[in-house]
Amino acid sequence: MTDIKKGLAGVVVDYTAISKVNPETNSLLYRGYPVQELAATQPFEAVAYLLWHGELPTEEQLADLVAFERANRTLDPAVKTAIDLLPLEAHPMDVVRTAVSVLGAADPAAFDNSRESDVEKSRLLLAKIPAMVAYDQRRRRGQGLVEPRDDLDYAHNFLWMTFDEEPDPVVAAAFNVSMILYAEHSFNASTFTARVITSTMADLYSAVVGAIGALKGPLHGGANEAVMHILDEIGTAQNVGPWLDEALASKRKIMGFGHRVYKSGDSRVPTMKAALDTLVEHYDADELAELYDALESDFVSRKGIYPNLDYPSGPSYHLMGFDTLTFTPLFVAARVAGWTAHIMEQAASNALIRPLSEYNGPDERHLDGHVPDA
Ligand code: ACO
Repeated sequence: MTDIKKGLAGVVVDYTAISKVNPETNSLLYRGYPVQELAATQPFEAVAYLLWHGELPTEEQLADLVAFERANRTLDPAVKTAIDLLPLEAHPMDVVRTAVSVLGAADPAAFDNSRESDVEKSRLLLAKIPAMVAYDQRRRRGQGLVEPRDDLDYAHNFLWMTFDEEPDPVVAAAFNVSMILYAEHSFNASTFTARVITSTMADLYSAVVGAIGALKGPLHGGANEAVMHILDEIGTAQNVGPWLDEALASKRKIMGFGHRVYKSGDSRVPTMKAALDTLVEHYDADELAELYDALESDFVSRKGIYPNLDYPSGPSYHLMGFDTLTFTPLFVAARVAGWTAHIMEQAASNALIRPLSEYNGPDERHLDGHVPDA
């Protein structure tokens, strides 16, 4: 009998030098550096550079990336027109997927798969996605586009373009941490999707558009949005017990818990939880914190399944003021750094990704005269 690896569970499909997830030690290294150290000391832009190039940038290299990012933050007219054509009810993941597709279709270098061109496109996507995400949230609120400010770093400018008010440094620091933690996580579903598309020698934009589609699902990136929906549904810490009784009886998945690789805790959670604690204190959000703790302790004690990064990031983005629907596009803005690093790694040592399947349909049969009249 063929040994079918449903969901590719446990299958090692390739090497990667970009990140190492170690479920034994609950650790995550980006190019050898513990993600916690990077989150505590680096701007998101430097981490993106590390993922793309293998080393942290020198002062000059960082200045070059920062200058490029600041110069390319505007929403292109064609992209804005495309977003404006979409209904306000469109899911923001569909909006950002469409916007990236339009950007790619308008780029004359889209088909240039050289590393130099792909680095350029990666930098461009890093710079441009925040404007797409920020503008879409604003238009859903009946607000207009806010032009970027080149005196602000990535995190502060993202908040500025979303909320049109002077960014709060406490919020910007927590946001920067979330971007770094979300930036990369080896062969997850969306990154693998990007690598599959790249393996056909399609262009970088196509691979990123496909990755956005894969990230949307609630078993992957869509979980940060789903976490907030369940916290809203439960309401208060007192309701957790009865809510969980019913949810588990009806075999519901509790969003923000569990992971294919980590089985005893997600390496990124303590760092994001610390950022959430800062926000809770900053906004006096004790009720939300009690609900968060009550659901975690009750679910972990019943099932032994631990929170993943989406559990603390969902309520963090809520406290920062983002709409729940915007949470997964924020994940896109961060993960595009990892996706593009993997796209370039795949392209550099490519083999078409084409697994096999075991056929279990009907045995061979013939039409025997069942041919429609001409
Ligand atoms: N709630 C309830 N039960 C769960 C959960 C959960 N969140 N996660 C796992 N389980 C249970 C399953 O029902 C299953 O039970 P069974 O053996 O009795 O059928 C068992 O644990 C194994 O679960 P699988 O789904 O088979 O494990 P897998 O490794 O495939 O799943 C996954 C990982 C998909 C992430 C799962 O834990 C899940 O659905 N979690 C909720 C969605 C979520 O938070 N996704 C975010 C992932 S991390 C990220 O993208 C940043």
